[in-house]
Amino acid sequence: MIQFPKDLEDFLLSYVKREFYRGTRRASFADRPFIREDLLFFSKGVADLSELFTADRANLQSGYLNQPQFRAGYILYFLPINFAKTRFVLDRFPEKFWKRKTYRVLDIGCGPGSASLAFLDALKKKNPSAEIELVLVEQNANVLADAQRLLRGFAGKLKIEIRAFPLWLHGFRFQGEYDLILMSHVLNEMVKYSAQERSEWLLPRLQEHLAPEGIVALTEPALKRPTRELMALRDHLIEDKEFCVLGPCLHDEVCPMLAATRSDWCHFYLDWDEPEYLQALDRMVKNDNHFLKVAYVLLGRTAAWKKSLPRGRDTYRVVSNRMQNREKTEAVLCGPPGRLTVSRLNLEKRKENSALDKVRRGDLLQIQGWDRKDFEVGRTLRLSPKQVLKILP
Ligand SMILES: C[S@@+](CC[C@H](N)C(=O)[O-])C[C@H]1O[C@@H](n2cnc3c(N)ncnc32)[C@H](O)[C@@H]1O
Repeated sequence: MIQFPKDLEDFLLSYVKREFYRGTRRASFADRPFIREDLLFFSKGVADLSELFTADRANLQSGYLNQPQFRAGYILYFLPINFAKTRFVLDRFPEKFWKRKTYRVLDIGCGPGSASLAFLDALKKKNPSAEIELVLVEQNANVLADAQRLLRGFAGKLKIEIRAFPLWLHGFRFQGEYDLILMSHVLNEMVKYSAQERSEWLLPRLQEHLAPEGIVALTEPALKRPTRELMALRDHLIEDKEFCVLGPCLHDEVCPMLAATRSDWCHFYLDWDEPEYLQALDRMVKNDNHFLKVAYVLLGRTAAWKKSLPRGRDTYRVVSNRMQNREKTEAVLCGPPGRLTVSRLNLEKRKENSALDKVRRGDLLQIQGWDRKDFEVGRTLRLSPKQVLKILP
């Protein structure tokens, strides 16, 4: 269960009030505690921004954060949500990543710093004595200033140096090597570029600037179009085998979901302890964020990571919800032999296959007693008594 840190929540609420009431008729409210009336005041910006991000994406202009009500709405509402998504993704990094003495991190399109804040939170728990150099790139100078203040406020005792570049990312010169490159909810805003063009921009930069044991974490809104574009970008980035996928995929073949379907997109659910003020905001704007949906890809250099990834050919990621009716239970899996729809008649339920009644999207499921050497983008398997299913930790 992902937690949004209480100290960050308190800091964020007082920051939003100080920053956005200053110079307005509400200036005198800036120093009192954050109350429901403040939430109501900011909820209009949240509702409009939320509409823009989902139903109205075609009208999403890159300048939306120039409007203070959207910037405030973003910080109050989308920052904690994207923080939680990045935290979920960081928890899926190989443990080895958290053992370094220093980290050079690049956060591209950092907004108010949601992803970097999640990284600092992970580091506080996993490696608090590490030294961090954090490079922020963001075209909107105001939200970049927010990011710097929020990150400094939250860093506490961490040893951190922040360098901020108010630039469009095409104008940013990558320098040196980065241990971590974060792009959280940015790619889909590069509306002028296709997946191929984004890849042609990103790939040479990764080749040159990702540290030998570095990791790239790409997260996108878990909506159909941006996620399928992310799946296509993943295919392009790993095509020449210099990079491999560290998650969620368990193989480096083409994405079978992208190849075999037109309507599915690879996404997962995360369980988080949603802050109370956010639940209240949700009620005001009629949203529900009890469970968050996340779409992500983690990449690293094949030379550094491939051998250390535990990838039995019999292990699959569950990439659908469990589908159950009176007759049968089914789930779609993705693993080294490809995409596999596993089904079992309820009459044939037995101890060996009962894991199918518990699997959840995102779980790792091992199928013992069934092996395929080749890769296929679509297969079905009706479980026989010989096959044993196991949900892996
Ligand atoms: C949806 S926000 C995501 C912010 C943050 N990464 C997060 O996860 O909350 C997208 C951010 O990317 C920035 N952005 C979009 N396209 C950009 C570009 N080409 N160059 C630099 N920044 C860009 C926007 O200004 C915005 O702050």
